[in-house]
Amino acid sequence: MVVGLQWGDEGKGKNIDELLSSGTYSGVARFQGGANAGHTIMAGNTTFVGHIVPSGALQKEVELYIGNGVAVDVVSLIKEIRELKSLGFDVTSRLYISNRAKLVSYLHPLLDRADEHYRSRGGSKIGTTSKGIGPVYSDVRARRALLIGDVNLPDFEEKEAKFVEFQMNFLKMYKENYGFDFLEKEIDEAKSKWTEAIRELKKLQICDLSFLIEQRLSEGKNLLAEGAQGAMLDIDFGDYPNVTSSNTLPANVCLGLGVSHRALRNIYGVIKAYTTKVGGGSFPARIRDAELENAFQKAGNEFGATTGRPRMCGWLDLFALRYAIRLSGVNKLFINKADICLSDEVKVVTGYKKSGVILKEFPLRLGEVDDVVTEEIPGWGAKNHGVKNKENASPELVSYLTYIKNKLRDLKVDIVTVGTGQDREDSFTWDN
Ligand code: IMO
Ligand code: MG
Repeated sequence: MVVGLQWGDEGKGKNIDELLSSGTYSGVARFQGGANAGHTIMAGNTTFVGHIVPSGALQKEVELYIGNGVAVDVVSLIKEIRELKSLGFDVTSRLYISNRAKLVSYLHPLLDRADEHYRSRGGSKIGTTSKGIGPVYSDVRARRALLIGDVNLPDFEEKEAKFVEFQMNFLKMYKENYGFDFLEKEIDEAKSKWTEAIRELKKLQICDLSFLIEQRLSEGKNLLAEGAQGAMLDIDFGDYPNVTSSNTLPANVCLGLGVSHRALRNIYGVIKAYTTKVGGGSFPARIRDAELENAFQKAGNEFGATTGRPRMCGWLDLFALRYAIRLSGVNKLFINKADICLSDEVKVVTGYKKSGVILKEFPLRLGEVDDVVTEEIPGWGAKNHGVKNKENASPELVSYLTYIKNKLRDLKVDIVTVGTGQDREDSFTWDN
């Protein structure tokens, strides 16, 4: 499996593509999250941003799985399938969707915005991607959500109508009690797009994915699980409530796909050489110099692949990373965007402080952190862009990476590759 170890946007799509290129894996599966993810893959002249379709889309031999743990935005799904087709990649024959995956309704995104409106009255928006993630997972827990497999049942329309009626009552509650405004027209448009997408969905391969995966594994095939978001956005172990609504940690691979823990092998964790975060909540490692943060945004193209929002930029946060590695059991590490360095000195956050005291454990709320402990390392400027082997990397970058490796030594993780650009070929391997 491949999971993010920061606040998402670590470049997971690129590493998944890289792992799939080795030919070791015959399939790749999303196990959680939904269209809140934005995974960019660049191969030659082709760029594809997947929100729902797994990152193996540009590898013609690879099967694509959407697991039961995923919240499926059908409109996004159909749009991506069409886009891929126009790029020369018809994925319909190799895409399988779990009949137990969760169906995002056309009102979930609106309810997501309504929730945010409600929260903003207290001044604490989460800054969600407005893809309906919170509302759909709430419905799953409340046992009233529609599942993907439901679309093929004879009473689907009836079920859907009942569910929509219930959701409309929620919307009215937000409107009457909290002044959340929406246009009827907006709902009509969303409904007609969604209804069309459902028609297309019915033509796709909806199956008992857990069983299919079991079959593939018993044929001796290797599969990859693709994490969305990152450890710091995990609903249980992230900075609650500034998190996403699913478990992003590897432990959820089993439940989100229906495989046993015996099927698990390597756990690849992905980080950037620095940190970014979008949305509300505290971000202790944030670069305090606004000009420098801005420069990072530009150089790293740190604008959301899903929402286009600028991402806050921070130094590498080793304190949070150690927590994420401990929770994930990661044994292999990808370090991306190591070519991006904009100052003579790079800072690294090694600890959090509260009222002058260095914290031993990760705090319940990141807002409690009022200062950070940092260390400084010499920077490497712009000279590592596109570097393809370790020998050509600048000594400063090599010492930065060696420093990270040493700081994580007791956690027993090996660095696999180091990314130096967006293209498939822009990376070098690291012998540990
Ligand atoms: P990938 O897979 C970065 C963030 C949102 C918000 C919080 C909750 O591309 O790394 P949600 O819509 O999930 O209810 O929003 O989580 N968020 C992400 N940030 N990358 C993502 O995915 C994200 N998915 C959600 O910005 O702060
Ligand atoms: Mg993203």
